Amino acid sequence: MLNLSLNKSLYSVMALLVLILGLGLMAPSTFAADDQSSKQQASMSDADMWRAVKAGEAGESTDKRLESNVLINVAGNQGKIVRDTYVKPAIVLSVLGVFGAFLVFYFVNGPSKLSHGFSGKMVERWSKADIWLHWVMAIACLILMVTGIFIMIGRHFLAPYIGEGLWAAIIAFSKFAHDWSGIVFIVSWLLCVIKWMPLQTFKLYDLKWFLVVGGYINFGPFKGKHPDSGFANAGEKMWFWTLTIFGLFISVSGLMLVLPTLELPREASMIALLVHGVSAVILIAFTIVHIWMATVLSEGGMECMVSGYCDENWAIQHHNLWYDEIKANGTLKYKD
Ligand code: HEM
Repeated sequence: MLNLSLNKSLYSVMALLVLILGLGLMAPSTFAADDQSSKQQASMSDADMWRAVKAGEAGESTDKRLESNVLINVAGNQGKIVRDTYVKPAIVLSVLGVFGAFLVFYFVNGPSKLSHGFSGKMVERWSKADIWLHWVMAIACLILMVTGIFIMIGRHFLAPYIGEGLWAAIIAFSKFAHDWSGIVFIVSWLLCVIKWMPLQTFKLYDLKWFLVVGGYINFGPFKGKHPDSGFANAGEKMWFWTLTIFGLFISVSGLMLVLPTLELPREASMIALLVHGVSAVILIAFTIVHIWMATVLSEGGMECMVSGYCDENWAIQHHNLWYDEIKANGTLKYKD
């Protein structure tokens, strides 16, 4: 009886030992297999994870601010490609292309002279407030254009030819001047749009102005044409409305870019950057045309924004309907 139970116990101990031994022998291989599969899994998920990161996928972060769970923002890179491929060359074209085209036009066509010369009688055209408004807006706009060009493409045409220190100083100053003259531009632009809008509504006769290119062509069938024009001619109206529309785009997008407190998603910032660049291309092109017209192409035109008065013959030739109107309603005022 004792023998039987001893045998039973011995069998149990033996069985337990075999089990432990078996487990012991099996364990390393089992754990190794587990380890291998988990390693494989880890390397698979690493690749997947980086693929997702590069595709701009969001992960987990304890920082709950906007997009702090996104390591690589795809919109940022895509926007940069569009800007480098299209907007930068377009800026170069709008500066050199438009300037060059007008230079050629000036040498081929010559300026638009006053058919009857200067009369010497000066007619009031702009108030002192208008002149101030124009020059504050114009100077702010010109500073924005020059500093904006440095910021966008200065690293290509300027940085390689000057020292690093000078380039750093130029770009730091450009950024400072760009931000602050932006505020001056927005305020003066808004006042200008509100104050001058009533003078700039398109009329049917403006179509004819476009058809004869404003009477500025000095040869062929266009020569000597003086199309009807009110206070502003059709070309000036087009300039005003371009400035109004793209001035709005450039101002809103500029504010979106310069105010970090807005906490915009990267996509919105990138769209703002592109809208800002495209608006700049258009405004730069039109500004160069405007300056050419005012300074060299239209004889007697510049005086309007210097003294506020224009020669009577200039008024009759370039703005006949306005001249007739102020003469008829008694608001025509000569310089003393
Ligand atoms: C050196 C630069 C500039 C010069 C010499 C200049 C000259 C002039 C002149 C002479 C006029 C009066 C035209 C007239 O009475 O019919 C004028 C009007 C005007 N300018 Fe300028 N300007 C310059 C820059 C700018 C800039 C940068 C802007 C825009 C930000 C601008 C916007 C305007 C507008 C909106 C008008 C009134 C619209 C019109 O009737 O033409 N100007 N400018």
